[in-house]
Amino acid sequence: DHAARAEGDLAGVRVLVTAGGTREPIDPVRYLGNRSSGKQGVAIAAAAADRGAEVVLLAANIDGAVLAEVTGDPAIRVVPVNTTAELDSTAHAAAKGARVVVMAAAVADYRVADVADQKMRKEDLTGGAPTLTLVENPDILVSLVRDRQDDQVIVGFAAETVDSEDELLERGRRKLARKGVDLLAVNAVGWSEGFESADNDVRVLNFDGDIVAAVAGSKREVADALLDAVGDELDQTES
Ligand code: CTP
Ligand code: CA
Repeated sequence: DHAARAEGDLAGVRVLVTAGGTREPIDPVRYLGNRSSGKQGVAIAAAAADRGAEVVLLAANIDGAVLAEVTGDPAIRVVPVNTTAELDSTAHAAAKGARVVVMAAAVADYRVADVADQKMRKEDLTGGAPTLTLVENPDILVSLVRDRQDDQVIVGFAAETVDSEDELLERGRRKLARKGVDLLAVNAVGWSEGFESADNDVRVLNFDGDIVAAVAGSKREVADALLDAVGDELDQTES
């Protein structure tokens, strides 16, 4: 409730969360996308609000049933986005006033070079199956780190297909170094692991590559463990 939120460890802290998965159009009726449901990011937004934060949630193609957890919460402003370009511009605008940025969205790495303005029709494709030419999207997280505001804490996510815990941590540490984030939450994914599920199993690495949290549980439990780690980072950057 309101009084409990005012006493929370994130009371008055502005938090930007991106969640869901961006989509890249092929033509007016088709897109390239990914399996991110947005549940983990929505759980982070809800947990942050319950700890007193003022939250902006950039929701990339999240189902209404998933968003129901946060709709109507006066501390959470939900902004729907679709493509990576939209997420890029809205994230940069929203990051300006944010003390904490949590980049939980699964961003399409590539977009279609020439989006058709009419539906692609089989009868027009004389050469058989079409070939899509892709171009690389900008790395939003890297650019947010580059434009980092004073004392801002920036958190990334990495979902990896791996054969072992060691490989997960090793890939996570390499990604952390590449992105320059303060915290990176890593989890293993596969055909039947990690996406639509209500649960998650996450390691949180700090800038030095140390594991500062390891939590398997509901996405809300994972969210709170991650926010505990964010709280520690905020204490360290306090000016
Ligand atoms: N990310 C981003 N912009 C992109 C790609 C990724 O902001 N164009 C962010 C994601 O939101 C996430 C983090 O970077 O917080 C890691 O995403 P991931 O897809 O694991 O990293 P990539 O650098 O795209 O590497 P990979 O080749 O493994 O997909
Ligand atoms: Ca990627």
